Amino acid sequence: MRNVFSAISGAIPIKEAMQHAGSAIAIRGWIHRKRGTGKRIFIIIRDATGTMQCVADKSALSESEWAELDAAYIESSAVVLGEVKKDDRSPTGCEIAVSGFRLISNNEQQFPITEYQSPEFLLDVRHLWLRSLKMINIMKARSLIFRYARDFLDSKGFFEITPPLITQAGGETGANLFEVDYFGQKAYLTESSQLYAEAMIFALERVYSFAPSYRAEKSRTIKHLAEYWHLEPEIAYFNNEQNMALQEDLVSNIANKLASDNDIVDFFSIDRNELLGIKPPFKRISYEEALGILNEKGARKEWGDDFGVEDERLLTEDEKKPMFICNWPKEIKAFYMPVNPDDPRTVLCSDLQAPAGNGEIIGGSERIWNAQELIARMKEKGLNTSKYSWYIDLRRYGSVPHSGFGMGIERIIKWLLHLDHIRDAIPFPRMVNRVAP
Ligand code: 4AD
Ligand code: MG
Repeated sequence: MRNVFSAISGAIPIKEAMQHAGSAIAIRGWIHRKRGTGKRIFIIIRDATGTMQCVADKSALSESEWAELDAAYIESSAVVLGEVKKDDRSPTGCEIAVSGFRLISNNEQQFPITEYQSPEFLLDVRHLWLRSLKMINIMKARSLIFRYARDFLDSKGFFEITPPLITQAGGETGANLFEVDYFGQKAYLTESSQLYAEAMIFALERVYSFAPSYRAEKSRTIKHLAEYWHLEPEIAYFNNEQNMALQEDLVSNIANKLASDNDIVDFFSIDRNELLGIKPPFKRISYEEALGILNEKGARKEWGDDFGVEDERLLTEDEKKPMFICNWPKEIKAFYMPVNPDDPRTVLCSDLQAPAGNGEIIGGSERIWNAQELIARMKEKGLNTSKYSWYIDLRRYGSVPHSGFGMGIERIIKWLLHLDHIRDAIPFPRMVNRVAP
């Protein structure tokens, strides 16, 4: 193993190595665990595909190889050569009897993460904590969930679009925008790409943007990030009913597909049947019915109140599938939602609540598609229409009815993987008190 590159290039993925019992192979990765000294050292090597126990006897290595192994720190990188042996005591059913060892790079010092560290410390060293089995499995699941969502929408004839993230037109919360000094002009980090997605349906009809959204909310909850990944489909000619049906299909498709990934299901102790049970139709209740349920449970809610964390929990504590809450009071929803003809106090919209208090995973609605109606609503809401002239323009040239929604991907990940906190659903979380690493 004189040349490190020739040693590295001969190595095979650990998952593959497990199928080579009886053969001599090489693997490369990071030293995940290490114990023993004197004459025998056990190491667990980790790569992107799995972990492998390796047993090194001093007698099987050259003096310099043994010295390197003996001095190697946890999380240093190495190439290990040896014979794969079946071993029922090993969690993966096999181990490697080491006949060659070569450090790719030893650490400068001991790896800073040892067992039992505080969550705050693990966030400080997030760049290193991403190597933990927990984070590795979350990041794999995250990648799969991104893929399932895209595959589903692509299969329905959608085009993925790429909106600007620096904008002058907010859409949702108004007060919670991050301001940007844009060459001397005031601009903001986008809180939703919806308005741009709306512009693009007039060219492509069915579009989605999958991009970060920014919320300068000072909420320190287990469900809020300042930067999150937002999947926002927008569909020409869809009404609110069709919009909800698409949401059901999307969410159940993601959950059902995740159920077929054995590694993820096992690692997070997920009940596969529960995932497979997430199928349309989802329950639909009106805002008014939700108020009734909450008051029955002693929550004292009045018409026009928004729901908090505890209300969401009370509403969904017995649910196994997500549930829609439809037709909210127009005062507490965004300016672009049309009035519900059956109850003019409300607008044609829905929030999708994950079961068991996991919170809102999707917000969606029909969109006002008449210019005068839109301008009137914007004025009612105290919005500066000149900032939205291009958005109003969309209603002036060949307007069509349309609908869309936004799904917070980290909320989906947190719910499906049973994570304690949304910060673990994203590699480098941005929260009120954290913008590094
Ligand atoms: O309900 P919201 O604010 O709706 C919109 O932004 C619409 N313009 C979407 C659209 O119709 N295209 O946000 C949509 C979803 C929420 O349901 C939630 O899942 C997620 O975005 N979300 C957050 N996720 C993490 N951290 C936050 N601070 C979030 N705020 C919203
Ligand atoms: Mg919402």
